[in-house]
Amino acid sequence: MPVAQRIEELRIELSELSHAVRTPQELMQAMVKLLNERMLKYNWVGFYMLEPGAQPPMLALGAFEGAMTPHTRIPLNQGICGAAASSGLTVVVDDVSKDPRYLACSLETKSEIVVPIFVNGKVVGELDIDSHFPAAFTSEHQELVQHCAMLIGKKLEASGQ
Ligand code: SME
Repeated sequence: MPVAQRIEELRIELSELSHAVRTPQELMQAMVKLLNERMLKYNWVGFYMLEPGAQPPMLALGAFEGAMTPHTRIPLNQGICGAAASSGLTVVVDDVSKDPRYLACSLETKSEIVVPIFVNGKVVGELDIDSHFPAAFTSEHQELVQHCAMLIGKKLEASGQ
């Protein structure tokens, strides 16, 4: 199946899933599993959420699929994760070995995408995906991951969390 079709099917399935589950946490758990299973180059998929009230602000590892990472808490001035959360912008790194911000999770990781999650216009966390393949996150993949982050933001807003 061509990748564009696989992405379109997954988008629809994830949108349906977001209505079927009760809580944002259930959606996050199901989403990381589905993305990791279906997208063969998404080798590590996980959420980092801002710890409420933490000073300095801190990202904490949430639901994830893939190998355990040494980075369970990341300050906003560190890593690609910190860059995405502090800027509120999607960060795509085609070759992590060339990015001085990169915090290594696995020696096999070659490329990474981090997409912020917004609730009522504020960053509350992010969706982070690592790939063992260089430049895995082309524009169609960026759109899919941004769609996922949007679904989580909407679910969090609806739940009042
Ligand atoms: N690579 C990330 C750290 C998280 S691990 O990839 C799971 C970063 O540079 O912020």
